[in-house]
Amino acid sequence: MSLSQLSLLHVRNLAEFKIVPDPRFNIIEGANASGKTSLLEAIYLISQVKSFRTHRINHIIQHKQAELRLVANYLDHTNNLHIIGLERSRSNTRIHLNKKPVNQSSQLAALVPIQVITPESHRLLEDGPKFRRQFIDWGVFHVKQSFLQVWKDYHRILRQRNAVLRHKSSKQQVTSWDAPLVDITNRFHNERLQYLQALIPIIQSYTKQLTDEDITIEYLPGWPVDMDFRQALQASYEQDCQFKHTRVGPHRADLSIKSHSIPVQVGFSRGQQKLLVCAMRLAQIQYLQHISQQSCIILVDDLPAELDSNHRAKLLNLLDETGAQVFITCTDEHLLELSANTSRKVFHVKHGQIKEVV
Ligand SMILES: Nc1ncnc2c1ncn2[C@@H]1O[C@H](COP(=O)(O)OP(=O)(O)OP(=O)(O)O)[C@@H](O)[C@H]1O
Ligand SMILES: [Mg+2]
Repeated sequence: MSLSQLSLLHVRNLAEFKIVPDPRFNIIEGANASGKTSLLEAIYLISQVKSFRTHRINHIIQHKQAELRLVANYLDHTNNLHIIGLERSRSNTRIHLNKKPVNQSSQLAALVPIQVITPESHRLLEDGPKFRRQFIDWGVFHVKQSFLQVWKDYHRILRQRNAVLRHKSSKQQVTSWDAPLVDITNRFHNERLQYLQALIPIIQSYTKQLTDEDITIEYLPGWPVDMDFRQALQASYEQDCQFKHTRVGPHRADLSIKSHSIPVQVGFSRGQQKLLVCAMRLAQIQYLQHISQQSCIILVDDLPAELDSNHRAKLLNLLDETGAQVFITCTDEHLLELSANTSRKVFHVKHGQIKEVV
């Protein structure tokens, strides 16, 4: 699975271009502010229809331009070619897949699994639990696409119960939502649990290879673990009324990751945190390949940041082993010691102009 061609217009500072990436490694090299991360952002847009840097997609449209345009040729795991077109104005997005309009961006997300590692990746560990839930749900969604409906149904029922809580309704009106919520929660919870049971040992193994440390990972389901969800919901009723929203459930879930019994957020160095996040993402990539033969596109922004040469080499080696298409940015390609027989292309970016180095 790989991007076999990419052309774009009016993305950040980038000049109009067309590139034919290597199916394996693509090194994007250039000085600060040349446009390297912008190129990764453009690739990410093709899958996610949003940026990994900003919530404001308008920021990505080139100054003084009305819209951006991207066209990508994408080969899926059965080697079928898909042509993806995306146009984004300041108020409107139009997506085409094989010349047919696409209304649901999740269709592209399902077709083009993508993973991103950036110098801010440690935020997956340090920021709120929302990011760790997104991490889990990304994996469950790609492994089992019926999960998207379970996710949507859970959040719809939760919103309805919360609306009743906000309107000072009777106890009977609130608890009438409990049975459907318990039912969908059991399905939601089991899907996450099954996925994590498979994923956690793979994360631990990658973490050991990259950091030499042993870690424990515990899934906190969003309610006290000594209760089942029905009991937790009943026990939470008074508090739910007081706070006017449901305070237990998969929307409050989290992962607790520890090394030597200390949360990695405080126990690990910045470099170790980056390597752990890489291990988490590599595990998702490997497990997805194992289950569905689908591989990911991997974007690594500023790979050398925070990593010494030994850890850079270890990470590059593991990225190589995935067999996936990888795009790596760096200010100096000599910092990336790829093994000699790994297929690659190098692109040089200067003031928004991208040129393949031949
Ligand atoms: N909407 C926009 N229109 C035009 N230029 C923009 C827009 N948004 C950002 N830029 C500029 O694009 C340039 C490239 O930014 P980018 O983050 O891609 O650089 P980079 O090569 O990744 O640099 P670094 O090595 O510092 O990370 C910057 O100078 C930035 O100011
Ligand atoms: Mg950058």
